[in-house]
This record gives sequence, structure tokens and C-alpha cells, in this order.
Amino acid sequence: MQPSISPLSPEPFIRNSWYVASWAHELSADSPLAVTIVGEPLVLFRDDMGSAVALRDCCCHRNAPLSLGRCEAGQIRCLYHGLLFDGSGRCVAIPGQQHVPSTYRVRAFPVAEAGGWLWVWMGDPRRADPQCIPQAAVCDTSAWDMRTGALDLHASYLLVSDNLCDHSHVAFLHAATFGGGDSRIADTYPKISPLERGMRVERWLTGRAKIEQWLPDEAGEIANNKGLDLWLTYDYLVPGILIMHSEIHWGGTAQRSDFLAPQAEPLHADLARQAVTPVTEKTSRYFFALGPRRSESLATPGLPDQMFEALQRGFHEDQRMLEAQQRNLERWSIDCSGAIQHDRGVYLMRAMIDRLLAQERTATGQSDLHVAS
Ligand code: FES
Ligand SMILES: [Fe+2]
Repeated sequence: MQPSISPLSPEPFIRNSWYVASWAHELSADSPLAVTIVGEPLVLFRDDMGSAVALRDCCCHRNAPLSLGRCEAGQIRCLYHGLLFDGSGRCVAIPGQQHVPSTYRVRAFPVAEAGGWLWVWMGDPRRADPQCIPQAAVCDTSAWDMRTGALDLHASYLLVSDNLCDHSHVAFLHAATFGGGDSRIADTYPKISPLERGMRVERWLTGRAKIEQWLPDEAGEIANNKGLDLWLTYDYLVPGILIMHSEIHWGGTAQRSDFLAPQAEPLHADLARQAVTPVTEKTSRYFFALGPRRSESLATPGLPDQMFEALQRGFHEDQRMLEAQQRNLERWSIDCSGAIQHDRGVYLMRAMIDRLLAQERTATGQSDLHVAS
């Protein structure tokens, strides 16, 4: 059975998964942070040990959002009638009375801090193992000079996922930014290998005529004659984690490497880390980080900012397209005409998401969870 690629059906979310809720630096010790993940409003704050905690953003007294409350020494006070909650969601004080009923509590969600991100587990808390956070997503980034950002999209996470699983769109949507007017990324195909919870994409783009703007001037001049080979590889993992390495090499490196992963020292290398978090059925939050090697930013201090600005320009091109796509899908109840060659990664990931949803439904007996089919 072909997986559905229409985001119009009641949106299925994988619950038993770690989701990126925010950059860790966004959560201070003294202010609560409101986030929504898979349709569930949460309040994040830091307990007295500085550890991030997540509670349902709804006071158990009269449903006021706790995110409108105030942090007090690692606890959160609802600023409607003043109930105080600890990081486990237990109510520890009620103004005007001594007794606090044990039933007074708010659902808490497991939280982990890793790789500069706060991760929240949205499913069965007994299955929340931090080891299940994709290791590639939390690798040591000290060798890279990264910049971080986030973007809110009025588009289903599935549309964002599709976008990330098929980079052929770079030739057209990003012709003026990432693509640099080179259509070869759409004329050729990457190697795509399934992973346990995702896929690996690897490719060379050889003999690029365009001088990469990230290169030092002298390298750019030589490359004018020799051309450049670009090596790209990324893992895309459920629920929406992308870890990409890009390298620029002298022309001919791809051939000398038998079109496999290069061993040669690159002229330029960068790391990109991204996470797509479903907010609601029709909205997503897209977290991203990009940076060159520290050795490159030491030589060219403006390079990380320059690269990051270019990245954001490209992402705004994606945003415009994805939001327009979402509007069309809502306006007309249409599905696509079928797959083209470049949809391979898209269908692979959609099938994987469908399979995980089906497994989750079977495991939990949540017969009301609709799986698009
Ligand atoms: S609604 Fe929170 S204290 Fe009343
Ligand atoms: Fe894009």
C-alpha cells in the first residue's frame, strides 16, 4: 500500500518520540516558556537544580495557562488564584488553606537536554529513554562555529519533511540562493539508504562552475579553472531531525573517491542541524543551526554569520512555498498525481511514519488514532 502524502486527513502524530521543544538557551531560570508540540500546549521552566521540566499548560484548578504564571525558586505559580506547582506537576501550595489534595496535579512530560536542544517525550512516560534521542543530533559540535535560529511555519510538518527529503527543489525554489543557478541537483539522483528510523542521503555534485562564496579568494581563483566538487550527506530521522555535512573539494575529488565519501581534506566544510516539530495539524516550528569549521571562522571571522544569513534567505523561500502549498491543500481536497523519481525519499519517510503510527496504534490500542492510508 502506498503511503498517503496528503496532509488533509486528521493529522496523525507519533507520540512515543522525543521532540525538540526549544533551544536550551531559550529557557531561562526565571521565565516560563510556552510551546505546543503535537497539538499539546506545554509550559517549560527550570526546577531548583536548573533542569528543564515540562507540564501541560493548564492549571488543574480552573484551567488557566501556567505559562502566564511566574517562576518561583524552581516552581511555577499560577497567576490566576496563586496555586504553586513543582517540576513533577504536583501542587505544593494553595493560598488560604493548609491542605493540598493529592489529586491536585498537572501532567508532567519527560524532558531531556542534549545537543543544545530541549527534548520532550510526548508519549507513554515509561518508554521515555534519553538514549532514544538520535545520537547524530546531539553529537559534539565544538569543532564547528554554529549559529542557531527557528522559524514558525503555517504548514504541516509532513510538508516540511517532504521538502527536506527531496533536495531537487533547490534547483528551482532556491535558484537565487542555495542553488546558485545550477540545475544539476535536479538532473541527477542521490544515493538514498534506509535507516532504522529514517534515511541517509549521499551525493556528489561535480564540476560546479560557480565559485562558492565561502572559499578564500585565492582558492576561488584556482577553482575558476579546476572547478569544484560538492559532497553532501545527511541523515533525516523521525520525527524530523536532519543532520547534514557539506564539503567543497577541488574538481576531480569525486572521481578519485569513486564517488564515495571523500577522504581528502576539504576546502570548506560545514555542519547543519535541523529539527521539525509539529505544533498543530497545520503548523510547525523549524529549528536550525549552521556553521563552518572553527578553523575557517578563525581565518574568516564573518563567515558563520554570512552563511547563516544565506541560510535564512533560503528558508524564507521554503516558507513561502510550503505555506502556499498548505493553503492549496486546505482549499482543494486534492492528492497528488503519483510519484516522480525525485519523490523516492519523500515516500520512504512517509511510509516510515505510517509504519511507526501503525505500530504505536497497535501497541497502545488507541483505535481512535487515524492512520492515513
Ligand atoms: S486557575 Fe490556576 S490557580 Fe486558579
Ligand atoms: Fe528548501
